[in-house]
Amino acid sequence: MATNRTFTMIKPDAVKNGHIGAILAQINEAGFRIVAMKYTWLSAEKAGEFYAVHKGRPFYDELVTFMSSGPIVAAILEKENAVADFRTLIGATNPDEAAEGTIRAKYATSIGENAVHGSDSDENAAIEGSFHFAGTEIFS
Ligand code: CMP
Repeated sequence: MATNRTFTMIKPDAVKNGHIGAILAQINEAGFRIVAMKYTWLSAEKAGEFYAVHKGRPFYDELVTFMSSGPIVAAILEKENAVADFRTLIGATNPDEAAEGTIRAKYATSIGENAVHGSDSDENAAIEGSFHFAGTEIFS
């Protein structure tokens, strides 16, 4: 059964470029409720662990370096059909292919520096959410 939560990160490029407020506003306007949120900076070790599923891919080292290059905003979002609806809101991984008006179309600069992360399944949303948040940090 589909759950109603997804996990997101506003990545170091979007943070550096001053887009936290605009991205959170777009997320809220699309009907998502923030049930957990933190401003944090991942170590290379933590970033590598988070993206371990991509280990061995040609972009893995670059991804780990980038994701540990500056602070991020991590959040758990709640909405009906959260995973699929959030992926629609953020657009394709590659900003060149992201639909107009999506968060990546507006704020991403490349496939690597693509402004936001969104979980790709309910199972990963739960894994990724608990990677960043303890149960006591989630308020629904
Ligand atoms: P994200 O949705 O966070 O999940 C994996 C990330 O790997 C992806 O966004 C991109 O930022 C990054 N990445 C870098 N290069 C590539 C690539 N060639 N294909 C897919 N993902 C890539």
